[in-house]
Parts: sequence; structure tokens; C-alpha cells
Amino acid sequence: MMETSLASTSYQQSRTKLETYFDKTARKAWEDLTSDVPVSGIRATVRKGRDEMRNLLLSTLPTDMHGMRLLDAGCGTGALAMIAAQRGAHVVAIDVSQGLIDIAQKRTPSHLSIDWRVGDMRSHNLGIFDHVIAMDSLIHYDENDIIGVLKAWSQRANQIAFTFAPGTAMLRTMHFVGKAFPRGDRSPAILPVSEARLSQDIGVALPAWSIDFTQRVSSGFYKSQAMGMSRR
Ligand SMILES: C[S@@+](CC[C@H](N)C(=O)[O-])C[C@H]1O[C@@H](n2cnc3c(N)ncnc32)[C@H](O)[C@@H]1O
Repeated sequence: MMETSLASTSYQQSRTKLETYFDKTARKAWEDLTSDVPVSGIRATVRKGRDEMRNLLLSTLPTDMHGMRLLDAGCGTGALAMIAAQRGAHVVAIDVSQGLIDIAQKRTPSHLSIDWRVGDMRSHNLGIFDHVIAMDSLIHYDENDIIGVLKAWSQRANQIAFTFAPGTAMLRTMHFVGKAFPRGDRSPAILPVSEARLSQDIGVALPAWSIDFTQRVSSGFYKSQAMGMSRR
């Protein structure tokens, strides 16, 4: 059963919609997007942007991660988790979609050992971590819920890197996933967030943490912004 304690109703509703979307509606589209199969124009720009974002997030992690624990929160088909495990990290990779975890498990090289889980990424039962990484798994949640998740992670991690949909007027009209998939595959809305307000709210909610970097990746219809924070 999903852990529901302390999570807001809006968080739980978004999570339920996302589970249906990623597990059923768009599972095949995500399987293709996250593989090497050829994809058409718009999706190719999204794939390129996502590759760039993954590399950016990975560049903030040590190259040798032996002895470290990493949570890949909302891991999807698991590309980032596999690279972190390749670097020696003990990786817990969780996603609300059983279907995407099945794909991730099938793709995992036999020499890697990853603790794949199906469930809620803000669950208290996942252990403590040196690093939490959440690539594009918070972009469908409103800002209050993003802060709630960051607070939950801050109690069991030393560093957190996540992405959000940058909230400029132009970008509000360019929701990359919505445009990248056919109408029937459209995702739940991506909720743009103002970087200034998010930074301010993190300062209030998590006074013991500092924001270390923020960097945008922009490739065709893919627009996403990374933010890294650590305990002072
Ligand atoms: C845009 S995809 C990104 C997947 C992966 N991080 C990547 O970059 O390839 C967002 C993922 O977050 C997952 N997700 C969203 N909310 C979640 C939650 N509350 N708990 C666990 N997974 C969640 C979705 O199922 C989906 O696989």
C-alpha cells in the first residue's frame, strides 16, 4: 500500500494520475524515448535535452561512488540509476509505475545490482542517502508539494538535486512532454515554477540547506531546470 502520511491530497492525486499515465497511457512512448530506437523530430529534441540533463545531474556526483547511497527518485526506466551503480554507488531506484520498473530491470546489465522499488518516492521507508536525484519527477507537482517532498528528503539525505519546469511566460506555452507525444498520450500538466519563488521558499522551509547550483537545459520542446542543494 502507498504511504500516504503527511503527503497532501493534491500530491496524492497527482501521483495517482502520474501512475496511470506512465504505467499505462504512455508506457510504450517512454520505453521508446528512453531507448535507442529512432524517434521523430520533436521527440528527438526531447531525448537530446534529457540526455543533456542526465549528464548535468551526473556531473554533480562523484565519479567514484563506492560506499555511497543514492536514491533515484522517480527513476522511470532507470538510466541514471544504472550509471550511478556503475560508479559504485548503492542505488535505491523507485518509481510509482510498475511497468517502467519492469523495463528498467530488464535493461539492467547483469553485473549491476540495483534495489528497484515500486512505490512513492517520498516514502520514509527507503533509508538514508548521501545523494537524492530526481530528474523530471517533480515537474507535475505544484510548488507546495515540491517543497513538501524536498522537506521529506532533507530528513534523510545530505545532498539533493532535482529538476523543475522553469516558469517563464514563454515556457508556460511549451510544455515539452505534452507537445512531444500524440494527443492520446498527453501527460498530466507540467506545472511551471518561478525559480526566484522556489529559492525563497526553500530558504524558509529548509534554513539548514543552501542552494549550490541551478542550471537550465533547453532543447527544442524540452525545457527543464536543475537545482542542487546541500546541508550547510
Ligand atoms: C518524466 S519521468 C522521468 C523519469 C526518469 N527520472 C528519467 O529522467 O528518465 C517522471 C517519473 O516520475 C515518476 N513519479 C512521479 N511521481 C512519483 C512519485 N510520487 N513516486 C514515485 N515515482 C513518481 C513517474 O512515474 C515517472 O516515471
